[in-house]
Amino acid sequence: MNSPQPASDLSGKVALVTGAGSGIGRSTCLRLHEAGAAVMCADINADGAKTTEQSILDDGGQAASLRLDVTDEGAVEKSLQQTLDALGGFDVLFNNAGIGDVDYGRTLEVNLNGVYYGLRYGAELLAQRGGGSIINTASIAGLQGLVTPLPMGPGIVEGGGVAYIASKHAVVGMTRQYAIAYGERGVRVNAVAPGYIETPMTEMIQDGSVIQEGYESLHPMGRLGQPDEIANAVVFLASDRSSFITGVTLPVDGGYSAR
Ligand code: NAI
Repeated sequence: MNSPQPASDLSGKVALVTGAGSGIGRSTCLRLHEAGAAVMCADINADGAKTTEQSILDDGGQAASLRLDVTDEGAVEKSLQQTLDALGGFDVLFNNAGIGDVDYGRTLEVNLNGVYYGLRYGAELLAQRGGGSIINTASIAGLQGLVTPLPMGPGIVEGGGVAYIASKHAVVGMTRQYAIAYGERGVRVNAVAPGYIETPMTEMIQDGSVIQEGYESLHPMGRLGQPDEIANAVVFLASDRSSFITGVTLPVDGGYSAR
């Protein structure tokens, strides 16, 4: 039997992206647009989301934006209807918003609860609409404990440090469980696990010093990643080209997790 013919792109599809106002989220919005999708750009930073939306509109695409705090369960649920109202569909959800914060509780609220709310309401709505694709942003910190090129202070297991590891491991687990639960209803659920990527979140290690070199050398490819390199993987997982892939966490990390 031949495998189903993959659609060449995301033409006619509508995607909702959280954390769309910066870094990986913004790059992914632009790539989804290039692949033909209409994009709802959602971020707690409304101006950032608006800037991403405007870039797509300026390029002749279809987009909208909204201020969304993913820790607000009701707002996450409402954002799905807002996407339908603004763009006339809902096919792809990228649960990407995340923080590297010093606070234990806030880190779990955003990185774990925020993704859970997206999965909870997003998977059900996609299933009711006949199927779709969800992609979550995990991390290499969701696959293994992190080492640093610097002497490790107690911070690595305190507060936000350990909450970040816990939250990203949880994203990997939730990705698997939702994939199993929704497979028969046509909703694929996958995750990407970025290595260190040059975004505002990692500004402190982009200083051109031995610290940056240390982080680069943790990746067998000898460099940090670019946001577009994550975005390309997300577009693949969003499209029918990945039609038999569900429940996986795809490392996009220059070999970091291969060691
Ligand atoms: P970033 O800081 O450039 O972008 C994160 C965006 O999320 C910001 O626009 C921020 O306003 C938004 N955001 C924060 N809290 C929010 C909330 N409660 N509700 C809605 N939006 C919120 O960071 P980056 O690097 O683009 O991170 C995106 C995702 O990638 C995060 O989940 C992060 O944990 C993950 N990641 C990043 C890596 C890196 O090296 N940059 C490595 C591995 C994972």
